Amino acid sequence: MRFNPRTVEVDHTMIVVKQASRDDIPAMVAVEQAIYGFAPWNNAAFESELSHKRRLYLVAENPETKTVLAFAGLSINDFEAESHITNIGVAPDVQRRGLGSRLLKILMLVSRECGMKTISLEVRRSNHDAQRLYERLGFVTQQLRRKYYVDNGEDAYEMSLNLEGEQKNHDRR
Ligand SMILES: CC(C)(COP(=O)(O)OP(=O)(O)OC[C@H]1O[C@@H](n2cnc3c(N)ncnc32)[C@H](O)[C@@H]1OP(=O)(O)O)[C@@H](O)C(=O)NCCC(=O)NCCS
Repeated sequence: MRFNPRTVEVDHTMIVVKQASRDDIPAMVAVEQAIYGFAPWNNAAFESELSHKRRLYLVAENPETKTVLAFAGLSINDFEAESHITNIGVAPDVQRRGLGSRLLKILMLVSRECGMKTISLEVRRSNHDAQRLYERLGFVTQQLRRKYYVDNGEDAYEMSLNLEGEQKNHDRR
C-alpha cells in the first residue's frame, strides 16, 4: 500500500506521519523495547509485515531529530471489507499527548478510503488504558478471546468499529 507523508500538529508539536520502510524497522523495534523492556516483534516480524501487499505501517517522527516516536500497523482484508490494527506503540516519554489517537484516526481514514466496512483490533484484557482510548474513538467490544496471547496466556478483547456512517465526529482533535 502507498501512503503520502503528512505533517500534523499533535499537542502543539509538528509531527511527520509517513509510511514505514525497512529503514524504520530498528526504530520501531526500539519503541517496542522502550515500552515493554523487550520487543514482542523482532526485525524479522516487522520485515515480514512490511513485505505484505495489503499492509500499511505508519511511523510518527520528529521532523527535526528524525526520531521515531510511534508506529501503528494496518492490515486490509479486501474480501471481507474489514481492516485490522495489527500493532501500535507510542514511546513512553511521549504517551498521553494524542499521538496514538492520531495514528489510529489516520488508519481509520485510510480504511474508509479503501472501502472497508469495519476496523478491528485485539487488546489485552488487563490493558485498561488502551481499551478506554479505543472506546473513545468509537470501538466496541465484540468478544473475549481466551488465552489469545502466547507469551503469558492472557485473554484478549476483540474490539471493532463500524466505518459506515461513523464519520467526522471521531476525526477531529
Ligand atoms: C495505548 C497507546 C498506543 C496509546 O497511545 P497514546 O499516544 O498514549 O494515546 P493518546 O495520547 O492518544 O490517548 C491516551 C490518553 O491520553 C489523553 N491525552 C491525549 N492527549 C493529551 C494531552 N495533550 N494531554 C493530556 N492527556 C492527553 C487522551 O485523552 C487519552 O485519555 P484516555 O486514556 O482517558 O482516553 C500507548 O499508550 C502505548 O503505546 N501503550 C503501550 C503499548 C500498548 O498498550 N499498545 C496497545 C496494544 S493493543
